[in-house]
Amino acid sequence: MISTTSYTSDYLVIEGGKPLKGKVNISGSKNASLPILIASILTKEPCQVENVPDLLDTRTTIELLRHLGAGVEFKEEKISIYPSSINLHTAPDEIVRRMRASVLVMGPLLARFGRAVVSMPGGCSIGVRSIDQHLKVFEKAGAHIRVRHGYIDMELKKVNPVEYTFEVITVTGTENALMLLSSCEKRSILRNIALEPEVMDLVEVLRKMGADICIEDRTAIIRGSKELRGFSHRVIPDRIEAGTFMVAGFLTGGDVLLEDVRVEHLGSVIEKLKEAGANIDILSLNSLRVRGGNGIKPLCISTAEYPGFPTDMQAQFMVLCCLADGVSEIRENIFENRFQHVAELQRMGADIHVRGRTAIIRGVKKLYGADVYSTDLRASASLVLAGLVAEGKTVVKDIYHLDRGYERLEEKFKGLGAVVERQPPREV
Ligand code: EPU
Repeated sequence: MISTTSYTSDYLVIEGGKPLKGKVNISGSKNASLPILIASILTKEPCQVENVPDLLDTRTTIELLRHLGAGVEFKEEKISIYPSSINLHTAPDEIVRRMRASVLVMGPLLARFGRAVVSMPGGCSIGVRSIDQHLKVFEKAGAHIRVRHGYIDMELKKVNPVEYTFEVITVTGTENALMLLSSCEKRSILRNIALEPEVMDLVEVLRKMGADICIEDRTAIIRGSKELRGFSHRVIPDRIEAGTFMVAGFLTGGDVLLEDVRVEHLGSVIEKLKEAGANIDILSLNSLRVRGGNGIKPLCISTAEYPGFPTDMQAQFMVLCCLADGVSEIRENIFENRFQHVAELQRMGADIHVRGRTAIIRGVKKLYGADVYSTDLRASASLVLAGLVAEGKTVVKDIYHLDRGYERLEEKFKGLGAVVERQPPREV
């Protein structure tokens, strides 16, 4: 029976125990799409972005671009942006609160208008998530930064070239810096940059726009242009969505064919799944097959920047560890509070102990369906995975988190034979 609480957003009802079988097509990457859409602010010429997933975060980015004055059309995974009409430089609190990635407008707005006023993003459920590294690069480029009434107000008369070594490796920090410096004709050097495939996809776009960017190891040398051009680009496949389906196929003892992936971006995930006992056949550069059924071996995982094991796959792999034959250990090195799925998995019968940034997981024979709450995007995905393999019915609530980052997740799982239904919010 479903609990007697109220359901304020859509929820999923999952009947566990079906091995997933069949083919799934992976959507375009969320975390590549957002900065690429925002890079359009750097030019006055039209831009076309293809393979964009239809997600809450994509819709919020479009809303933000329209708020700034851009014309935007979104039709069948293709977005056309007309940025010549952009005439505002403020990202309001109401939008930044819904999507932290809104801070990515800082670099492009500074480049285009010499002014950016962006609501302070604050912390979020997975950690403090400071943006000090973004601001340090802007300051080095000559920006004058003040914080007023909850907003970061930046002025930059002329973009000066920068030489900066990031104190921590940051994905959006690297992206913001690359976008700003792509508008500077003189040579800038950024060291200790993030090399995530999503960052590299943005680099490809900035090159198409006319910036000369050379990357070696963790160093980028940038020679930008004052007149950046419009671009046309197809976004890379979402490696985290792919990883989530790979875990699902193995976890349920199924046989899943993934298409539209970039196998080269999945190295650490493939390695860990093989270590856990998954049978993985690489069929081409863009497709692979995952099979399970012979048990799950315990794992030792430590999250790291790319090419290391992604923090965005940590929660999903924890579900595997919950059912492994032995004791696993997961260390979360990127975010300080990314174990919120633990309490919910415990409600389903998992044996997990957390000490600081390390979780020790003792494999159990079974998980049992329960009512569980989503706390953040990837935590939600892990609860859906747990529901797919649990005995009985699982109700995953507050799935708006899931809708921020997974396109038609339940439909794709249904296509693989899962028993899962989305239900609208209701009062009980
Ligand atoms: N950090 C700082 N100072 C900064 C920037 C980051 O101390 O100026 C710290 C953060 O607090 C964190 C670490 O550095 O501890 C890494 O943060 P990073 O800046 O790399 O994260 P992000 O850019 O805010 C992106 C993704 C996240 C993903 C992380 C790590 C986007 C829009 N978001 O966030 O994706 O987890 O990189 O790979 O690209 C998700 O998709 O679920 C998600 C959270």
